[in-house]
Amino acid sequence: MSPHATNLYHKREWWKEATFYQIYPASFKDSNGDGLGDLPGILSKIPYLASLGVDVVWISPMFDSPQKDMGYDISNYEDVYAPYGTISDMEAIISSCHAHNLKIILDLVVNHTSDQHAWFKESRSSRSNPKRDWYFWEPARWVDDDVEGGKKRIPPTNWRSYFAGGTWTWDEGTEEYYLHLYDSSQPDLNWETEDCRKAIYDSAMRFWLDKGIDGFRVDTVNKYSKVLPFRDAPITDPKSEWQPAAENWCNGPRIHEFIREMNEEVLSKYTAFDGLPLVTVGELSLTPEPEGVLRYVSAKERELDMVFQFDLTHLGQGDGFGGKYDFVPWKLPELKRIVEKWQCFIESTDGWTTVFNENHDNGRSIDRFGNGAPEWREKSAKMLALWLAALAGTLFLYQGQEIGMLNAPEEWGIEEYKDVESMNHHREAVQLSESGVDSTRKERVVKGLQLMARDHARLPFQWNGSVNGGFSTGKPWMRAHDLYKEINAESQKKEADSVLSWYKQLLRLREEHKDVFIYGAFELLDPENVSTFVFRKHYGDKTALVALNFTSEPQPARGMDYMTLLISSYAKAKEGVLQPYEGRVYIKY
Ligand code: GLC
Ligand code: CA
Repeated sequence: MSPHATNLYHKREWWKEATFYQIYPASFKDSNGDGLGDLPGILSKIPYLASLGVDVVWISPMFDSPQKDMGYDISNYEDVYAPYGTISDMEAIISSCHAHNLKIILDLVVNHTSDQHAWFKESRSSRSNPKRDWYFWEPARWVDDDVEGGKKRIPPTNWRSYFAGGTWTWDEGTEEYYLHLYDSSQPDLNWETEDCRKAIYDSAMRFWLDKGIDGFRVDTVNKYSKVLPFRDAPITDPKSEWQPAAENWCNGPRIHEFIREMNEEVLSKYTAFDGLPLVTVGELSLTPEPEGVLRYVSAKERELDMVFQFDLTHLGQGDGFGGKYDFVPWKLPELKRIVEKWQCFIESTDGWTTVFNENHDNGRSIDRFGNGAPEWREKSAKMLALWLAALAGTLFLYQGQEIGMLNAPEEWGIEEYKDVESMNHHREAVQLSESGVDSTRKERVVKGLQLMARDHARLPFQWNGSVNGGFSTGKPWMRAHDLYKEINAESQKKEADSVLSWYKQLLRLREEHKDVFIYGAFELLDPENVSTFVFRKHYGDKTALVALNFTSEPQPARGMDYMTLLISSYAKAKEGVLQPYEGRVYIKY
């Protein structure tokens, strides 16, 4: 293979060329003034999405749920959360998407259910219930109590959960512990039990596929198979009672078997509304190695079409367990190497990749990778957009990204944050600070949350300059951003040089030059430069050169000789210099 091997052998597929747009139902559009986004709100905005030029709409969970984790805790797969609407509202959204030639995918959240799901209620009702083994139940361990004397009860393992604390909760009724990798209200389903798997296929998958959806975003896709029997993780965080234990529940021994079964029994029996294949994209955390990722996305394995890999989202985050919100400064070369790693991943394999820098679990990209200051936010939004639009892989945009939405202002107090993960990390940091175990922890975690909390992405969408940014006439469940008058879709629709207009233009350009942008091979230039990100994309004899200035200072621009300027994020590109946060593409045939 030549150093810039083109991916001519990468089979063209509709879902590789499509742009996906993620909707977070609670925060997209409220139709009835109760302060919460809803399905009629989404329905009213399908034409907006079609005009943006995206191809697939992904709706985050709108299923029935007690909303402990914003719908990622499902109490009934076959119903809609009532404040969002009804099943027939969903049917209307599905038809409207298809009428606008958009496909639609839903979140498949089947690592766990809510503790309010009928399955869990049954499972918990007695040790002999037929659904007992649909979840993981284990007896307590008893150890010497050095403080009180006698014996004390401890959980089956010392694992740390995602949202701080341990992974086991004691059930008084049946006197056993149940497992939850996330919140205690999200018990893990036991995929070892065949009846349980079959019920998942029927209820979470076939029910919605029969209604005509075109695929799934598969939540926490690599955690269904646990290492059994359960065992303690080694102590790597001596300050804590709870230890990172991913090797016990991530990429476990039967995971590939389970995903293949899901395909064979369910997905392979359906097509998208237009007869094309369904699409699946998995959420693949804690899998840093390309070989590990390839096992899920290799075309010949027929598991998942693609996955979200999280190297980029981890930039600036501390250790994923415990230290996640302990901000770690980073430099541009790290970002470039990560992009290179996942661009090159597809060049020598039959696996595909995804391109994204926002979703509902992260801070806004302008604040994390660009510059949210008033004079730079639009410029950096456009530069970041160009970065994504020129990369190989399937492009995913998150609601509000297309208008340059920002993180919540730093002045906002912690009481404006609502997310269970933010709350738990904050509470834990306060404890660690006050007890003197880690006296500056609180301060560090507050700073990390201000930059990276999941809450930032969940602020109401800014539709226009009216009260609450036009999201709701009532009191929104999360406060609307102070800047909705300056940053909103309506005013940007009218301005030819707005961030929104830029996104529309870039999506057309990406389509027009999809050979080089979507399928082209990646070549990183000047990797150690801490200010600019410059790369080439190659496809046959065609080359694109992408030059991005990640700073607020002008930077020298080199290497564009004999190439034609295709686009610049500034009205006037200057010879030999990249203006602050400018992005440019040159092309040569
Ligand atoms: C995924 C979701 C996240 C959720 C978690 C538990 O990571 O993206 O929002 O909290 O799964 O379901
Ligand atoms: Ca509503």
